[in-house]
Amino acid sequence: MTGPKGLRLLSTVTADATVEIALAEDDVAAPAADEVLIRVEAAPINPSDLGVMLGHGDPAAAVAGGTPELPVATLPLTPGGLAAGSERVGEPLPVGNEGAGTVIEAGSSAAAQALRGRLVAVVGGGMYAQLRTVPADLCLPLPAGAGAADGAASFVNPMTALAMVETMRDEGHTALVHTAAASSLGLMLNRLCLEEGIPLVCVVRSPEQVATLREAGATHVLDSSADGLQGELVAALRETGATLAFDAISGGGLADRILDAMEQAIGAGAGYQRYGSEEHKQVYLYGVLDKAPTVLRRTYGMAWGVGGWLLPPTLQRLGPERTAELPRKVAAGLTTTFATAFTDRVTLAGALAPQAIAAYGRPRTGTKFLVTPNA
Ligand SMILES: NC(=O)c1ccc[n+]([C@@H]2O[C@H](COP(=O)([O-])OP(=O)(O)OC[C@H]3O[C@@H](n4cnc5c(N)ncnc54)[C@H](OP(=O)(O)O)[C@@H]3O)[C@@H](O)[C@H]2O)c1
Repeated sequence: MTGPKGLRLLSTVTADATVEIALAEDDVAAPAADEVLIRVEAAPINPSDLGVMLGHGDPAAAVAGGTPELPVATLPLTPGGLAAGSERVGEPLPVGNEGAGTVIEAGSSAAAQALRGRLVAVVGGGMYAQLRTVPADLCLPLPAGAGAADGAASFVNPMTALAMVETMRDEGHTALVHTAAASSLGLMLNRLCLEEGIPLVCVVRSPEQVATLREAGATHVLDSSADGLQGELVAALRETGATLAFDAISGGGLADRILDAMEQAIGAGAGYQRYGSEEHKQVYLYGVLDKAPTVLRRTYGMAWGVGGWLLPPTLQRLGPERTAELPRKVAAGLTTTFATAFTDRVTLAGALAPQAIAAYGRPRTGTKFLVTPNA
């Protein structure tokens, strides 16, 4: 059974090395017993959304096409982009991991009926859409007083900050290092660590970002663009005892420098050890802000690891007992610990304007776009 029609964004990699982001009008599935139909009011544009939406397209080179009602933006793929996206050629993919909106229809189950008329946040995929049918159990009812913009980004970054802390505890570490630490997620992690008394070493790449984090109460803030990073890292790691880092950059040598500094911080005064210190040092690469290869010089003995880290499998690995209370923590801190500051708002059509794509296509400190599909 079909319900009403609604507009949504679709991203398609084409065989002639472009990515087409188009607005399409489709029938929306009516909710099944355990589903709800949501009128989407707000959805953030996060780096993880851009991966699907831009699909290796160059955001600075978008060209407008289509019609005023159903616009299309076409971006040339960067070199190697067609090979990297070959598995999705010709397949229109819905975009937008998460968002918030009002439940306007509900299936017959008690769980779905309980959400009727409620403002909810949902990580349902395909959220750059006017209407979305999703399972009721994916919805987080927003607390009284919270608006759609407050709840729009309540899953990806907040749950990641919480899951980083859970990973730290699970793997026996007591402090954290975070790179690209002035990001929205970085500011959340800083607030969370301050609240929970977890020592945090923030690595950023400009004096302005250092100032932002210091104003936010961070103690250890290091600027990778300044001289002397390595010495400052060793000192901060010695003070905090951090042996776990989350690196959003991945490309280049920052992970390597962190491991090297961890080894120096642990090993100082321990004398010669043929295979380095025995304490395990770990860097998780959890973002790809720099697509260059990760360079490891391996100057830190043998007790270290570098690996990928992704939220959904981490939540699965931690298990329901450890993760059940995390959404409640997010709801309680929606406008404080886990708040996201949105600087720009675009409609679905507005998100396809070349100037907008150029602006949100390069994630920057202090800039965060919100898509408002029904504005
Ligand atoms: N693995 C997971 O499950 C997971 C989950 C959530 C988020 N993430 C990742 O978390 C990261 C942060 O997300 P967000 O929404 O908080 O981002 P955001 O608010 O859009 O901020 C992006 C930040 O990255 C910095 N940046 C961009 N390119 C950089 C580079 N080449 N080197 C150093 N810094 C760079 C920017 O600084 P400038 O202003 O200096 O450019 C800015 O501070 C993203 O990489 C995202 O993919 C991963």
